Order: sequence, then structure tokens, then C-alpha cells
Amino acid sequence: MAMKISNKCLDGLIRQANRELQSSHAYLSMSLWFADRELPGSAAWCRAHSAEERTHGLMVFDHITKRRAKGALVTESPAAKFNFEDPVEVWKFALENERQNSLAIMDLVKLARSEADFTTEQFLQGFFVPEQLEEEAAVTDILENAKRVVKTNGLYVAYDSQIVSKPH
Ligand SMILES: [Fe+2]
Ligand SMILES: [Fe+2]
Repeated sequence: MAMKISNKCLDGLIRQANRELQSSHAYLSMSLWFADRELPGSAAWCRAHSAEERTHGLMVFDHITKRRAKGALVTESPAAKFNFEDPVEVWKFALENERQNSLAIMDLVKLARSEADFTTEQFLQGFFVPEQLEEEAAVTDILENAKRVVKTNGLYVAYDSQIVSKPH
């Protein structure tokens, strides 16, 4: 019964879809923060990543729809305006957000397994689990280099131009 979805899994998937949309809003806010400070490389990375996060949210809604489960809703509102001190703080926030999202995905995998919803488990294992590894690694790389730039009295503005071509 691949199409049948349990109520608990449905709730979890709706929550996750909204979490991805919230993440998309957060990266868009980060992008605007960087753009305000004339840091176009960081702004472009965050903007592209915002689009990826939106795609993740839509993938989860599509999974729900494919299984003919009813009741999916958009519940998350756009993120509040961020007040960051400096670029390192933005990237720390981004990494924390990714870590929290990874934990949410792992919890959802556990739930799917306990509900014997192997279709949902496979959906998550096939994309979201490896994707979180990539994203945590990508943001960690950007953050660690940003910290090093600050520590060595380098110019973040010079590092900014490299960020746009970093992986997601
Ligand atoms: Fe995501
Ligand atoms: Fe992410």
C-alpha cells in the first residue's frame, strides 16, 4: 500500500514542507541583508539557496499529493527581519538552521519507520538525508572561511566574490 499514508506521517510531512518554506524565507532575508551591505556574492548564494529550499518544500507537498493525502497547508509566515552584527553571524545562523533541519529530517525518518511507512522513509532517504549532509558541509565551509578571513584581518568583501561560486 504505497499510496496509503499514516496520519502521523502526514502531519510530519506537512510540518517539514513548511519548515523548508520557512528556510527559504530565512535565506531570502539573509540575501537582502548581504545586498544592503554591498556584498553581492553572499547575497547571490543565499538567494539561489532560498530557491532550493522552496523547491524542497514543494517536493514534500508533491509527495503528499501523489499519495492522495488530504489536508496539506501552508502555515509558515515569512521570517522576521534579521538583525545581524556581521557576516560571520549570518553564516552561523544559516548553519544552525541547517542543523536543526537535519534533526527534523532524522526525526521524520524515525517516525516513518515506526509507522512502517517505507514509501515516506525512502522518499526522505533518497533525497533529504544526503541533501542535508551536502548543505551542512557547504555552509560549514563558507562559515569557517569567513571566520578565518576575520581572524587574519582579511577583507570579507574580497572573500565575498568567491562565495557566489561555492557549492550548495
Ligand atoms: Fe532544504
Ligand atoms: Fe537547507
